Amino acid sequence: MGRAFGSTVAEAVLVVLLAAALSGCGQGKAAGPANFNGDPKRGADLVRSYGCGGCHDIPGIANADGNVGPPLHRIGARTYIAGFLQNSPDNMAFWIQDPQKVLPGNAMPQMGIPPDQARDIAAFLYTLK
Ligand code: HEC
Repeated sequence: MGRAFGSTVAEAVLVVLLAAALSGCGQGKAAGPANFNGDPKRGADLVRSYGCGGCHDIPGIANADGNVGPPLHRIGARTYIAGFLQNSPDNMAFWIQDPQKVLPGNAMPQMGIPPDQARDIAAFLYTLK
């Protein structure tokens, strides 16, 4: 049982690493905050329209006081996303797009958020320090 879980985690890490490598290749640029272009203002609007606040307490978003997931206060300065994935802008966008691929079975649903919107949302989350 322990081994099965371990291999699932290893696969998730591999998927994340591959995703990071592929997106880096496609643009011919190093991945990372310096090349990260998301619009935090649009991101805040998307956080409102996707209803993230139904599950999360989010500073600066009216009525975002959910308590299903962790509060997102200072998420921009946290070391790990969901206690598992190294916190970087690319990883944050990846988590928002498909949290079930990162941590299968966790309570945050895959919401069908496209990559450009995930980057805007990540940019907003990085304003929370
Ligand atoms: C149905 C409830 C639900 C919705 C809707 C939801 N989340 Fe989550 N989210 C969770 C749960 C539960 C976790 C904790 C996952 C874990 O740690 O395994 C989480 C974790 C996170 C984390 C990592 C938090 C940390 O402390 O490391 C971020 C960032 C996040 N969510 C952002 C969002 C954003 C942005 C949206 C909207 C696009 C959203 N979530 C929508 C339930 C939800």
